[in-house]
Amino acid sequence: MAKEIRTIGVMTSGGDAPGMNAAIRAVARACAYYNVKCIGFYRGYQGMIEGDYTVMNARSVRNIISRGGTILKSARSVDFKTPEGRKKAADQLKEIGVEAMVLIGGDGTFRGGQIFSEEYDIPVIGVPGTIDNDIAGTNYTIGYDTALNTVISAIDKIRDTASSHNRLFFVEVMGRDAGFIALNSGVGAGAEEILIPEEDLGLDRLLESLKRSKRSGKSSSIVVVSEGDKTGKNVYELADYVTENLPDYEVRVTVLGHMQRGGSPSCFDRTLASRLCVKAVELLLDGEKNVMVGIINNEITATSFDDGLREGHEINKELLRISDILST
Ligand code: F6P
Repeated sequence: MAKEIRTIGVMTSGGDAPGMNAAIRAVARACAYYNVKCIGFYRGYQGMIEGDYTVMNARSVRNIISRGGTILKSARSVDFKTPEGRKKAADQLKEIGVEAMVLIGGDGTFRGGQIFSEEYDIPVIGVPGTIDNDIAGTNYTIGYDTALNTVISAIDKIRDTASSHNRLFFVEVMGRDAGFIALNSGVGAGAEEILIPEEDLGLDRLLESLKRSKRSGKSSSIVVVSEGDKTGKNVYELADYVTENLPDYEVRVTVLGHMQRGGSPSCFDRTLASRLCVKAVELLLDGEKNVMVGIINNEITATSFDDGLREGHEINKELLRISDILST
């Protein structure tokens, strides 16, 4: 029989994502509901190593569901990558009396959790929180939907000025090595071209497509570029390349950057965070360990870290075809 768990820790790690607060709230409230003590660690794994924590109850998380960022702060801990760092974290958990952890973050957070759970007998459950949506064990990560909405609202504004000046804009979006944000925001904002790491269509095609746009009577264009795209040129080099080859175009660049990680989470992200985190706490209380929770076909699921982190989380390339048709 699984050991009864009386204290659960929670932390947020890696790049912050809108909805992390809703996730923390759900962990703290689910713990309160099940009469389990909840400890919030600051700055992810670093706070676990340093014993930097706060005791949380249902009221500690009032009015945070709508707030961006994370009240527990976030970090990418270098120390936790070392066996010594992980030992310190395990010792701290023991001293504080934390018997299980909910880890909210992206692939780096889950990799850390996986190693930690192999080395120490402390059950952990990963909750996917990253704007990149690059985790195989879930259809959606917390923060992705909000980031998409932030991006399309920014591109809509860029479109206004692009159209007033008959300009071509390259808009760089985040996503690290994944093109989910670029592809979906590109379709949602009606971009003329979308460049993603998963599909290098080549620079010739980009030029051809822009020429076609001009011929078809378009006066302005938007090209959405994922920060990890594989053209071999960064967004400024791409702009120079197009200026050299298509001098008729007046080209500008906008890098959206960290604004994509901020802002009040969408209803989708708040609900997703709430569902995933209640499940995470319930799984721990049921004796489950060392898995990530996710949402697959609208069902909340538990997947091993290995499967959840496997390479090649499929992007929907059909969207590139849709984009092609619709940018005619
Ligand atoms: O993983 C989230 C993310 O925002 C990526 O899209 C981006 O590549 C990276 O984090 C940026 O990290 P930092 O905030 O450390 O610059």
